Amino acid sequence: MAVEVTGLDVVTLRSEIQKTYTDVSERPDSAFIFPTGRAWAEELNYPKELLDRVPEAACESFAGVANPFSFGALNPGEHSLDLGCGAGMDVLIASQMVGASGTATGIDMTPAMADKAQRAAEEMGAPNVTVLEGDIEALPFGDNTFDVITSNGVIDLLPDKTAVFSEIYRVLKPGGRMQIADVTIQRPVSEEGKRDIDLWTG
Ligand SMILES: C[S@@+](CC[C@H](N)C(=O)[O-])C[C@H]1O[C@@H](n2cnc3c(N)ncnc32)[C@H](O)[C@@H]1O
Repeated sequence: MAVEVTGLDVVTLRSEIQKTYTDVSERPDSAFIFPTGRAWAEELNYPKELLDRVPEAACESFAGVANPFSFGALNPGEHSLDLGCGAGMDVLIASQMVGASGTATGIDMTPAMADKAQRAAEEMGAPNVTVLEGDIEALPFGDNTFDVITSNGVIDLLPDKTAVFSEIYRVLKPGGRMQIADVTIQRPVSEEGKRDIDLWTG
């Protein structure tokens, strides 16, 4: 079911999101209005021994808002999916947690991010990792595929949250779980605010 935000130009919004995160991928040392990089991941208490094995390319473009593994580590043998994986830091942490008998998949709609995550997985030598370029509102996976879905700072960027939660429900196995780190708002946003693309991308 599509949920419309009246007057929001969704095509421009997606293109602005892709521009912002292409910059985070290609110019990670630039000043962003949100925190990025390895120092931020350390502040969020990612396990140091796992972070140390993730290539710097994935860490430097980390743009999450919190630590989805603070809800608990993933278990060996699990099949995990990271929605909006960016440069792949969380996927590469997940790949170490699920181990050789599990799989860690990431998907992102910004080509520069998905490419960077793929290259980082190759550099780390993580054969249990798959990275795809795609839209998390229409996941290219069958029903009941994953044990656990993670996401970090992504769902807040989507105008149609119903679509992504329907997809999460569809691709999770019965009894599967979500470990989502995201930004929430505590008060209603004005209609004018909802149409302001700078507020979405910032
Ligand atoms: C704030 S960044 C977070 C990236 C990553 N999760 C991390 O923690 O570094 C948001 C990411 O979500 C991706 N994204 C936004 N909307 C998306 C969508 N509809 N489908 C797939 N990816 C999306 C962007 O391309 C961007 O890489």
